[in-house]
Amino acid sequence: MTTATATKGLEGIIAGDTQICSVEQGALIYRGYEIHDLAQHATFEEVAHVLLVGHKPDAKELQFFKDELIANRALPTQVVDFLHAAGPMLREGTAVPMDVLRTAVSILGNMDKESQSNSAEANLRKAKRLTAKIPTIIGHMQTIIDGKELVAPNTGGDAKLSHAANLLYLMSGKKPSTEFAHVVDVSLILYAEHDYNASTFASRVISATLSDMHGAVTGAIAALKGPLHGGANEAAMEMLREIRADIGPANDPAKIEAWMHKAFADKRKLMGFGHRVYKNGDHRAPILHGLGRKIAEGRGPEFVRLFELGEKVEKIMLDEKQIHPNVDFPCGMTYFVMDIPVPQYTPIFVASRITGWCAHIMEQHANNRLIRPIANYTGPKLKKWNG
Ligand code: SDX
Repeated sequence: MTTATATKGLEGIIAGDTQICSVEQGALIYRGYEIHDLAQHATFEEVAHVLLVGHKPDAKELQFFKDELIANRALPTQVVDFLHAAGPMLREGTAVPMDVLRTAVSILGNMDKESQSNSAEANLRKAKRLTAKIPTIIGHMQTIIDGKELVAPNTGGDAKLSHAANLLYLMSGKKPSTEFAHVVDVSLILYAEHDYNASTFASRVISATLSDMHGAVTGAIAALKGPLHGGANEAAMEMLREIRADIGPANDPAKIEAWMHKAFADKRKLMGFGHRVYKNGDHRAPILHGLGRKIAEGRGPEFVRLFELGEKVEKIMLDEKQIHPNVDFPCGMTYFVMDIPVPQYTPIFVASRITGWCAHIMEQHANNRLIRPIANYTGPKLKKWNG
């Protein structure tokens, strides 16, 4: 029986060391590089290399890394067959894209020749294969939902397109504009890594038993789906849609205020707001908000009105609750004005965070100790079975 009390949600508990990322009020840093610097000057492929391989690639290393990802974009037929089989489950709503993505990754694990090896070399190869294939799973899934032909089913897309552009191409069959591709690329950089967040910590707990990378990623996808975590980007957009439906097309300040005060009275958790670590704002949110708003301004007044609604909601949350938006709030609006289907927002988060998860899984396997905290028993006192 312990006497200490448990810290709910392990808030503020330092659960281990990592060389991958630092999440502080003052800055978000990936292996020494600050997030604004990365968002402005790097590409997602370069950031993925920093996270997975461990350093900024020179031109030759970057080209080799890109070629590896492109060469691994295609899916095995067994996974494509599963995605077709999942079509009715997605249409009936018994499965959502995050569930189907989780299962598809699991099947990839069943088929990967190195699935049972946790060596550093095998893990890095598996991490690249997963990073390459997840956008193809998302793209094929979306075309199946839309009842369309798969886009480039045998190659996993267009080798001339960047990782981000190819993701959009696979989902819609249309080559994206440079601006859309750039904004998605930056969103993938922003989403890539965030130290011991719930899904990453889940992947470390699983890999700390010396279970394999695909199993740990499968668990991480399940954790990220939750609306308190990655699922918040979809939930935030659904919340804005609900407000729009309730108050009508104009952004009447009094109606928005009334909606928010009812939400406060109902003690609703407003999706895309708040953060366990960031109490003065999420460094990533303003970056994505600015890019998304620019897209909206380019598309027309109804798209700008969505951002204006979001900005009014943010102001009320800040003024009355002192709660800032996290990255998921601007992500929802930004992906919406780029016509990305809402149920694919969190899968796209996976397409980015796979790099952070795999970096942590490799770090755990390389210097491992089983992760096993203790519990504070508050159950019934000792008693006799035949007492
Ligand atoms: C991500 O950890 C990471 O790094 C995650 C992430 C990453 O990159 O991996 O950054 C990605 O998951 C971002 C978070 C996405 N989730 C949401 O947007 C869901 C809505 N947010 C909340 O559920 C909440 O803010 C959490 C879960 C994110 C954090 O919750 P905490 O730290 O457990 O804080 P809490 O729920 O105890 O809230 C403290 C107070 C409470 O008020 P009281 O009950 O004490 O009066 O603040 C209130 C909460 O009610 N509050 C909110 C709120 N968030 C906190 N009230 C309304 N809406 C909210 N969103």
